[in-house]
Amino acid sequence: SLLQSGTLMRKKSLISTSQTGVNNTAAASRREVCTLIPEAWRFDCYPERGVVVTKELCEARNCCFIPASSPSSAARPSGRNGIPWCFYPPDFPSYSLVSINDTSLGQRGTLAKEVKTYYPADILTLEVEIRHETDSRLRVRITDPSNSRFEVPISQCCTFDLSYLNSTVAPLFYADQFLQFSTSLPSQFIYGLGEHRSTFLHDVHWNTLTMWARDVPPMEQTNLYGAHPFYLAMEEGGNAHGFFLLNSNAMDVVLQPAPALTWRTIGGILDFYVFLGPDPGSVIEQYVEVVGYPAMPIYWALGYHLCRWGYNTSDSAWEVVKNMRNYGIPQDVQWNDIDYMDQFMDFTYDSSKFATLPDMVKDLHAHDQRYVMILDPGISSTQPEGTYWPFDEGLRRQVFIKDAEGRTLIGKVWPGLTAYPDFSDAVTHEWWYDNLKRFHEKVPFDGLWIDMNEPSNFLDGSTNGCPSDSLENPPYTPGVLGGLLRAKTLCATAQQKQSIHYNMHSLYGLMEAKASRIVAKRPFVISRSTFPSQGMYSGHWLGDNRSQWKDLYTSIAGMLTFNLLGIPLVGADICGFSEEPEEELCVRWTQLGAFYPFTRNHNAIDMKPQDPTAFSPLARTAMKQALLLRYSLFPVLYTLFHHAHVHGHTVARPLMFEFPKDVKTYGIDKQFLWGKSLLVTPVLDPGVDYVDGYFPEGLWYDYYTINLHLREGSVIPTQTPNLTLWVSSGQPLHLISALSDDGSATGDLFWDDGESIDTYETNQYTYIIFSVAQVLTVDHENLPSVSVVASFQPCFV
Ligand code: NOJ
Repeated sequence: SLLQSGTLMRKKSLISTSQTGVNNTAAASRREVCTLIPEAWRFDCYPERGVVVTKELCEARNCCFIPASSPSSAARPSGRNGIPWCFYPPDFPSYSLVSINDTSLGQRGTLAKEVKTYYPADILTLEVEIRHETDSRLRVRITDPSNSRFEVPISQCCTFDLSYLNSTVAPLFYADQFLQFSTSLPSQFIYGLGEHRSTFLHDVHWNTLTMWARDVPPMEQTNLYGAHPFYLAMEEGGNAHGFFLLNSNAMDVVLQPAPALTWRTIGGILDFYVFLGPDPGSVIEQYVEVVGYPAMPIYWALGYHLCRWGYNTSDSAWEVVKNMRNYGIPQDVQWNDIDYMDQFMDFTYDSSKFATLPDMVKDLHAHDQRYVMILDPGISSTQPEGTYWPFDEGLRRQVFIKDAEGRTLIGKVWPGLTAYPDFSDAVTHEWWYDNLKRFHEKVPFDGLWIDMNEPSNFLDGSTNGCPSDSLENPPYTPGVLGGLLRAKTLCATAQQKQSIHYNMHSLYGLMEAKASRIVAKRPFVISRSTFPSQGMYSGHWLGDNRSQWKDLYTSIAGMLTFNLLGIPLVGADICGFSEEPEEELCVRWTQLGAFYPFTRNHNAIDMKPQDPTAFSPLARTAMKQALLLRYSLFPVLYTLFHHAHVHGHTVARPLMFEFPKDVKTYGIDKQFLWGKSLLVTPVLDPGVDYVDGYFPEGLWYDYYTINLHLREGSVIPTQTPNLTLWVSSGQPLHLISALSDDGSATGDLFWDDGESIDTYETNQYTYIIFSVAQVLTVDHENLPSVSVVASFQPCFV
């Protein structure tokens, strides 16, 4: 085992080949050997979809064929997602370490194999480099020493027990388009692996999670908008570790109940990091140190955002803004969807229906509010020459992605036929900037919403289809929706500056976000497609959810997962995107959404209005109260984002991060924390006025009449809320302390001008630590729910 050699031990191996019971049976018949492998430890030798795996097919691969016996496999007779019927025998040829030498950071060695596999272009000699990069971070790179292969172009930053990672449980594959390795896991508690619709805790019962950026409304078992090959695993006793495969190719991640995990990717190299924690929060800090710390958001990013697709005119959007003000409901930001554009073309606006757009933006600014608009990557390619600068100029500067033959690749999105900017090219960033600048002179927008950047295409590939070769039809295609890499996106063979689209596809949203962060103050960008390191450049919303109670619930898992992935500025469309929410659902969603780090109400075209002003006075008031509560907690939230930015902490935090020894918290995804001390227990069901929740160890103070609780021993800074965060900024701050048994409490506040770049890095901030020492004898019977200790005026340095 690569990982076991050269590493220290924390505890004994969870699994070894002898435990599978097959060690001493080498001489027995193949079938006997195969039978001895427990079902949970069978690693799929025939993962191809759409094939009925027969004994003959399986044995042609020299694998074991045993139709599995359990009921779950009977339901899926082909064994596709259940216990594999065709699996590797223990003597399946794999690589062995033929030499190893010490280096300054670790070891470098050669892996070799003699027998080719059944995938084309096996690379029989590999170089492996093990680097102990820090005390808590190990990196392993397995590369082809003879030919350079694609490596993910993201900038990364700068000895222990790994016995739970046993990579000998299944053979290693390293063919040109099929790279695979498996590892046992220390427990069944696995998190991360975005972007998927699922519970927060992943199911390890034969669960395949495919990664390949895809435009599709979130549904289970499907690759969604972003790709994040990172997981957090809990070990026994509350320890945790993390694992990151830095690879952007289409891949499957297979979880099986052994517990074990298989990474199966179709390109690039095997370059992975192991983060040793030892607690879950430290794992995320170590991960974020590698992929990049999340940007510090501009203050108004944390206010309430209102959006919809289907404001037919700028006046109708403006009307809502005015109604919000009249009702005294907080709102920092008004957004526009594609409706504002002239024929859905980027960098234009409809001069009749949206004639008053510049006036609306002026009015927003006059009320300390902000304006964000959508941009899609597809640039209309059919306008008469000389009439649409973005395309003409893009062609002139050669910014568009090309097809395999070197012609501008044309797909189809909202404006009709479109070309796609290649954000992997610096020239494209300049062109994008020039377009933004020209548009900003007409409509002084404050932030960008970058949508459809998987990139999405209403066609498969291009108007000319795609060539027929091994990139378009790889020997193995992961379980991508539509069965083809090009399904609803560009051809895999399309050419980008840094590599072929086959390698670059899932990086599109990351690179577009990078190009979009261009303003003098802290930029505000929300992106649909994401990749590791995205948090440095943008936030994320969870895509096209539905106005259903189930979607209300699953938004918590989505929000928590993205906090683990280093993208804490995240939220779901409040009240649901498609379909129409009943009033009660929208109220409950606003109450939960008030605790999304990024809080935006967004609605699909043709749906009834669902902004707070559209509902009854009772509902409106409930929504207003929830938002005022959020605004009053702004100092807490802002300070949490500071810790995310500087230390890689989560903002919306799973309970198990604070209580890792309490196994009961491991599966909780109906409750969550803000930081370490505010416990949110939202109502997620219709027709109820109660919730069931779990209180972890300690005293929890009732914060408010909604289900918010403050943990003993904490001091939180709050502020009298107002209609916008800017208007609130002069309001007095308060401290609320929740004393521990011994009468102590601590907390902190990060405070700066809210918008300048790098205030922490350049020392333009105030950071205060509060601490309460024993002041009184705590009488539990008569404890006040919260106590205001002091109040003070904010100070900007
Ligand atoms: C898809 C986005 O996910 C959605 O939020 C948006 O409203 C539509 N595109 C229209 O732009």
